[in-house]
Amino acid sequence: MHFSVLFFASVASMTTFALDNGLMRTPPMGWLAWERYRCDIDCKNDPKNCISENLFIDMADRLFEDGWKELGYVYVNIDDCWASMERDKNGRLQPDPNRFPGGIHRLARYLHDRGLKLGIYGDMGTHTCGGYPGTTLDKIEIDAQTFADWEVDMFKFDGCYSNALEQELGYPQMSKALNATGRPIAYSCSWPAYQGGLPPKVNYTQLGQICNLWRNYGDIQDSWSSVLSIADWFFNNQDVLAPAAGPGRWNDPDMLVIGDFGLSMDQSRSQMALWAIMAAPLFMSNDLRTISSGARSILQNKMIISINQDPLGIQGRRILKEKNGIEVFWRPLLNNASALVFFSRRTDMPYRYQTSLKKLNFTTGSYKFTDVYTGQTDVLKDSTEFVVSVNPTGVVMWYISAPGKLQYHPYFKGNKLHKPAYVAEENAFPRVFL
Ligand code: GLA
Repeated sequence: MHFSVLFFASVASMTTFALDNGLMRTPPMGWLAWERYRCDIDCKNDPKNCISENLFIDMADRLFEDGWKELGYVYVNIDDCWASMERDKNGRLQPDPNRFPGGIHRLARYLHDRGLKLGIYGDMGTHTCGGYPGTTLDKIEIDAQTFADWEVDMFKFDGCYSNALEQELGYPQMSKALNATGRPIAYSCSWPAYQGGLPPKVNYTQLGQICNLWRNYGDIQDSWSSVLSIADWFFNNQDVLAPAAGPGRWNDPDMLVIGDFGLSMDQSRSQMALWAIMAAPLFMSNDLRTISSGARSILQNKMIISINQDPLGIQGRRILKEKNGIEVFWRPLLNNASALVFFSRRTDMPYRYQTSLKKLNFTTGSYKFTDVYTGQTDVLKDSTEFVVSVNPTGVVMWYISAPGKLQYHPYFKGNKLHKPAYVAEENAFPRVFL
């Protein structure tokens, strides 16, 4: 009896403080090893791709020399399989000595010297998902201090091999422990992904107070079906998820797989566009040493990056789901600007989608827009019917700066937005884009 009272009191006290580390006022950007390099520890036979300090140094060099850093891609993040199987004699985690002979602190210095930041991975539980030493409740303080001593800038806390109660205690406790080190360390929590991602199990108010970003859903894979299922889950649950996001606290639909093997160019443009609409963290998991120029230009698109990084930090939403397979997404941006994405789920041919800004709930006025992928710009009256040609599994994305005022969508007042299904209007093809 006494124990349970004490126990709940201590949970309550741990969950009421606010994360006030001032970090990640816009979604973080960088590179993360997991999706592309997994737990490849075979440095003997696969030295270029194994999880070792060389891989992170290579990627840091590319970020630094190939124009990524200037665009905001500054994090270089280690994921699972970096650690030695044994803690050191003081009980501290240590990197695998063969694969990280210089140690993590030296790697952090290498990155900092180039204006980059280092992220590292741990797991609330007995083991990481890959079977490496985990962080049990009694190890939280010492591990947080170890990362701070190494001058780490970001920490991803996974949740394999722990139960719901341990997670409920451990995630807030780690937040506190990181803050207590005095070093600003951004905190990425996988907790909600282990709770099914939705209330009532997930408390998004609490997450915003203890974490800078969080994984809500399953792991991304190098395929279009994976990207699409993740996007669908996030937009199907947008009424719950979008209000949780804001400066310093972001939903994380997982890494960008642009530049890998599974996505076509159109699908790569779609992932970039939808992640920008979602105000998602932009962590690439690819090989920056050999990336194609096509993938690079999508990832380095300044206008999309600026949409993703909009200082208001409002997560955008799907505003329309047409029977014909076209979906429309919208994100409000600073200064009454906004971003629109027309996305096609179709698999036949480019679809000529006709609409008007008025039908998309824009108020009366003229709007200047720029197609973020082609650079084409024009001015549209709200009432003007236009046609966009959207490729199968592709997008057309517009940045719209408004001379007039934008009407906020009714969904921001908590209502559902019901648009009439698309009806072709005869004689209404004043302009064709693309
Ligand atoms: C989990 C996480 C992934 C990755 C792996 C590592 O599956 O969701 O992002 O960190 O563990 O083992």
